[in-house]
Amino acid sequence: MARRCGRATSRATGEIQIHPGRIATCAVWLCFYLVFPSAVEAGLYTASDQVILLSPENVDSVLINSSAAVLAEFYASWCGHCIAFSPVYKSLARDIKEWKPAVDLAAIDCAEEENRKVCTDYSVRAYPTIKFFHAYSKDGSLGQAFKASSHDVRVLRHRIINKLENHAEPWPPACPPLEPTSQAEFDSFFDTNNVQHLALIFEDTKSYIGREVTLDLLQFENVAVRRVLSSEAALLNKLGVTEFPSCYLYSPGGNFTRLKVNIEARTFYSYALKRLPGVVRSGKPPPVVVDVRTNSTEKPWRPFNRSRVYMADLESALVYSLRVELAAHSVIRGEALTALNKYISVLVKYFPGRPVVMNLLKSVNSWLQNHTASEISYEALREILDNTAQVPDTALPEGERWVGCQGSQPHLRRYPCGMWTLFHVLTVQAKNTGRSDPQEVLSAMRNYVRSFFGCRSCAEHFEIMASESLVEVNTFSSAALWLWSRHNRVNNRLAGDLSEDPNFPKIQWPSPDMCPGCHTVKDNGEHKWSNERVLSFLLSHFSSGSILSDHLQDESQILATQRGKHASRQRALEAQRRVEREALDSMTHPLPPQPTVQEEEEEEEEEEEEEEEEEGAAADEMQRKTSETTSWAKPEMEMGRGRRQARRRPSIVGMRIRDLQEDIVDLDSFVNQHYKAKALRGAASSRVKQRTLQRQEEPGPVYGLGMELDAALRMVGVQPLEADFERDVGQQRKRLQKRELAGQYFGEEAELIHRGRLMSVLSIGFSKVDISLCVILYFLSSMCLLAMYLFFKNRLRLRRAKVSLP
Ligand SMILES: Cc1cc2nc3c(=O)[nH]c(=O)nc-3n(C[C@H](O)[C@H](O)[C@H](O)COP(=O)(O)OP(=O)(O)OC[C@H]3O[C@@H](n4cnc5c(N)ncnc54)[C@H](O)[C@@H]3O)c2cc1C
Ligand SMILES: *[C@@H]1O[C@H](CO)[C@@H](O)[C@H](O)[C@H]1NC(C)=O
Ligand SMILES: *[C@@H]1O[C@H](CO)[C@@H](O)[C@H](O)[C@H]1NC(C)=O
Ligand SMILES: *[C@@H]1O[C@H](CO)[C@@H](O)[C@H](O)[C@H]1NC(C)=O
Repeated sequence: MARRCGRATSRATGEIQIHPGRIATCAVWLCFYLVFPSAVEAGLYTASDQVILLSPENVDSVLINSSAAVLAEFYASWCGHCIAFSPVYKSLARDIKEWKPAVDLAAIDCAEEENRKVCTDYSVRAYPTIKFFHAYSKDGSLGQAFKASSHDVRVLRHRIINKLENHAEPWPPACPPLEPTSQAEFDSFFDTNNVQHLALIFEDTKSYIGREVTLDLLQFENVAVRRVLSSEAALLNKLGVTEFPSCYLYSPGGNFTRLKVNIEARTFYSYALKRLPGVVRSGKPPPVVVDVRTNSTEKPWRPFNRSRVYMADLESALVYSLRVELAAHSVIRGEALTALNKYISVLVKYFPGRPVVMNLLKSVNSWLQNHTASEISYEALREILDNTAQVPDTALPEGERWVGCQGSQPHLRRYPCGMWTLFHVLTVQAKNTGRSDPQEVLSAMRNYVRSFFGCRSCAEHFEIMASESLVEVNTFSSAALWLWSRHNRVNNRLAGDLSEDPNFPKIQWPSPDMCPGCHTVKDNGEHKWSNERVLSFLLSHFSSGSILSDHLQDESQILATQRGKHASRQRALEAQRRVEREALDSMTHPLPPQPTVQEEEEEEEEEEEEEEEEEGAAADEMQRKTSETTSWAKPEMEMGRGRRQARRRPSIVGMRIRDLQEDIVDLDSFVNQHYKAKALRGAASSRVKQRTLQRQEEPGPVYGLGMELDAALRMVGVQPLEADFERDVGQQRKRLQKRELAGQYFGEEAELIHRGRLMSVLSIGFSKVDISLCVILYFLSSMCLLAMYLFFKNRLRLRRAKVSLP
């Protein structure tokens, strides 16, 4: 009976362990759906548009007494003009993103009930109305009128510059001087300014390029930009400048050189100036020179070519996604299961991987295809990923090896970089070989990101972009271009963000030096991508033929690691089976130490521990590494680790508790005093051990137990291992809570424990067989008594009848 009980409980605990994961998954989804619809439905703009969304709560703090000038659009979400204007306003926001500290964009939906008062307070009567608020606007200021008649971003941008130029005091502190440079300022420039480069843009009076580039670079250190008018004849003659517009670099040493660009236009100047040596975003540490990074705790830096794609990054992204990110979901079902199916099937179709990896992906795919149940457990998926069936030439590497996605710090780049690269490669492969649905790869990516991507805010932003425009994708080429342009949007939003690696600034990719032909200008001088050139660049950059295999883990090594892991798992299984067999043997043995419910649970847990530890340094290292990677992916990671830890108990402490308890449990001394006979004591001590184990596991008086132990430790004069000990008790508490969560298991378990305890109390000095015999004898004797009673009763009745007859 004890055996069956043991099974039942351990299965029950298995169930309980799944619960937190399930709850967390639900929580993630809940949050997602709570955040999400509001984000989509909030008027014409969303949080990812780089437009401040105004509300009654923030309107005064944004518009009044702000250190930046603010352009605010008052619109009504139902108004056709506003709807037509919103894409212009969004691209304006993207276009002047770098100007933010000096001038910011905001918008408010006056159709929203709660915003109406704000709009009337600012005396808005027509939609859309755009107002310009000076930096440090006074309370009660209604803002200046700003003409929004144009749908040309360039015109709007120029109007903003005009407003800034005419800005009254106090000037927005982040805004650099915009007026033209004079000969006098030029001569004494380096006496008063501490910068490495002065960029001079020579232009006509009417040109805005100089001022635009000045503002584009306002967040960057070690470079100053000034415009010089073509009317400054003396200075021009002195420097020998004849072309307008043109850009020259002037350094403190007196060097004067022309800046080389493909086209003399704003974007090209900005690209080039940001890449000058020493130019960094302010507030960021200067770029680390990668070669001198020799810190022992870090992996050695793997040299790579920045304009290439590496298979090591793609594989690492796969490994992280399959082994870590998915592992946060103990059960995968519903939409997430569909997402997983699509993700794997797209990988099988288009991932240009090595044969071993492809074989592994195929086996995952066919396993998923054959799986008809409505949910899968990650444990089951892990078996396939680990190739426990030992299908030959099939394996997924254990850890990650970032190459092109290495970051200057462990929390930068890596996985998200790998994920972007992976999906760019997939869209390009689909373009080459895809037959059916041009949206296949992108919708697989969208679903994966929505269901699994650890960075939830990334997922929300990506979903917004996808829901806006994924429908427009109708060819394989447009799919590749869509992902490229959305990626650039993300780059634009994240430029200057905390997650930007100073060594790898977020740029509009590819830069002119990677693909000169990709960049052109419109007639009005505005930058324009040449989509055909970009497409052909993407097709060659991400093609399977140009993916480099440097720094890849050796195939035979991967297979060997896998074999080793498999072998150790087999050994662990073998050991477990042996223990079980022994337990079974002891059941039938006449004088066995009965394995009680708890002990068996204990054993199984210990084995699990062993197994986990044996799971190899590689996996462990990966876990450790992932915990330090990508700070935004942490919550779910922590969750996974937490679960692991909850199961794992500090074994030293556990041992100590057990030993000490053997000494202090009262019953113990009682037994020792009353049963002096050697044989009896021997038998009893083994059982006492079981009882103490039971106590430890007992869900009831956990706190009491803690105190008891504490006292005992002090009595015996042992310094308790405070931290560890507390963790242990804490874990028991947690466990207790878990059990209470799953009420029915708790009840059952308590009953089982109770019964078990009764058994062992009864059995002091008796074997189980003795008890059974007793019970049988007792039963037989009562049956005997009953039979006798009935017999005599009948006899009596018969006699009475006889007596009364005549
Ligand atoms: C779907 C998704 C959404 C994300 N959303 C957010 C978010 O909302 N907030 C956030 O902080 N982080 C987000 N991230 C992470 C962020 O985009 C970067 O991946 C991360 O900051 C690492 O940046 P990186 O410098 O390595 O370059 P990445 O942007 O990761 O780019 C990787 C490599 O791809 C190439 N590349 C760059 N741009 C393009 C392009 N347009 N087309 C093709 N190739 C290009 C470059 O070689 C680059 O090194 C998201 C990531 C993903 C995958
Ligand atoms: C405006 O902000 C400045 C500093 O940012 C502060 O000193 C000043 O008191 C503020 N004025 C008002 C009216 O809030
Ligand atoms: C390595 O990093 C640690 C802390 O990050 C630092 O204390 C140590 O000096 C570094 N060592 C070298 C050789 O740079
Ligand atoms: C990096 O790759 C590009 C594109 O293939 C190539 O032109 C360049 O020479 C390479 N750089 C180095 C340092 O190998």
